[in-house]
Amino acid sequence: MTTTATAKVSEMIRQADWKTEKHVPVIECPDTVRPDEMFDVTVTLGKEVAHPNTTEHHIRWIDLYFHEKDAKAPYHVARFGFCAHGESVEGPNQGRVYTHHCGATRLKIGKPGVLQALAYCNIHGLWESTREVKVSQ
Ligand SMILES: [Fe+2]
Repeated sequence: MTTTATAKVSEMIRQADWKTEKHVPVIECPDTVRPDEMFDVTVTLGKEVAHPNTTEHHIRWIDLYFHEKDAKAPYHVARFGFCAHGESVEGPNQGRVYTHHCGATRLKIGKPGVLQALAYCNIHGLWESTREVKVSQ
């Protein structure tokens, strides 16, 4: 993919199957929730195909939005920032401790909609995924 100075951000967001593409965020939450009751949401990458977390190649952040049915704009519900990537006093990628890019939050919704996760890799750009959430009556 090539970009130009006039390219829209939406044109630079990639999608793929998370089972075969390591950059696609995986949203884990219940399929159906109760109205106005808190539920857990976890977003991670590399669930099937591991993504590196090194000083040279890593995930910088994951944003989580909720698109409520019939709403005019999405709710921004979480930002998970990752600013540590295996740095060590022994040198880049020489340490023995690494973290994994994973974010967890809790939210409640009153109407059904779609969760959207947007992840940024410092080398491979923007990637997104979505997951529908229903609300029981
Ligand atoms: Fe990457």
